[in-house]
Amino acid sequence: MEYFENFLWGAFPWLAIVAFFVGIFWRWRFDQFGWTTHSSQIYESKLLRLSSPLFHWGMVFVIIGHLMGLAIPKSWTSAVGISDAGYHLIATYPGAMAAIATVLGLIGLIYRRVVNRSVFLATSRSDKVMYIFLGAAILSGTIATMALQLFDVLGTHGYDYRESISPWLRNLLIFNIQPELMTDVPWPFKVHVLAGFTLIAVWPFTRLVHAFSAPVGYVTRPYVVYRSRDSRTTDMRSHVAWEPVRSPHSQLDRDKDRKKRADHVRPPRSG
Ligand code: HEM
Repeated sequence: MEYFENFLWGAFPWLAIVAFFVGIFWRWRFDQFGWTTHSSQIYESKLLRLSSPLFHWGMVFVIIGHLMGLAIPKSWTSAVGISDAGYHLIATYPGAMAAIATVLGLIGLIYRRVVNRSVFLATSRSDKVMYIFLGAAILSGTIATMALQLFDVLGTHGYDYRESISPWLRNLLIFNIQPELMTDVPWPFKVHVLAGFTLIAVWPFTRLVHAFSAPVGYVTRPYVVYRSRDSRTTDMRSHVAWEPVRSPHSQLDRDKDRKKRADHVRPPRSG
């Protein structure tokens, strides 16, 4: 049993981290053309416009919460006067709201893939596997937060993961592996940490790689200026290819006339 625990809280997270970095390097080296969101917006945009920002903004706040809770030692927040109860409130309520937004966004994204035939056909096997691991990490985190932190289902009175999971992770990352710190962690958090590291391991082999090529340059890029031609100073003749095909009235009128004539000629139905 001890061997298994050592594997789970010592070897497994590092195997996942190595798979992540080696996978990212491999993908970048050999599959740069596949490094994309594989956007399906062209097939369906209504549900996507709602679900995608809900999911992505939810995730941004979830990530900020993880950085705060896992990276910042408890002694630092105490030193600036934030009590345990205060920290718990700051972490739990915004965390729960971010989790709800993320889950609703994820449900929308998956629903859209299932009900819209074109999006369904554009969904690869790798996408399906990705949604299973992504869903497992997000749902297990949400369940742990809701059950233990918000509703105190296991009677832990708001589990203080900053005494166990957070120091365990910080030490793990500097090769000071201490599996014993994870021994008494409530099982919903254990499941979540394992689901999180599993997602990290499969990340490079899915479309999630697009997270590292977000268009951040847009923020500092110069504006692209669109303006109409000034009729006083420029020649108004536009290139023929730019004319909307059906806009000239003559063409629309011609079509209407043609339809009218066809209706007139069509013989009445008998019987
Ligand atoms: C990489 C994939 C991961 C995803 C998608 C993910 C997702 C989530 C979500 C949706 C929540 C609930 C919302 C919140 O409280 O922020 C959560 C909570 C939490 N996760 Fe993760 N997580 C991941 C990895 C990890 C890892 C690797 C750890 C620890 C080593 C971890 C530790 C926690 C903790 C301690 C909470 C509770 C936060 C609180 O209640 O204040 N997560 N996670």
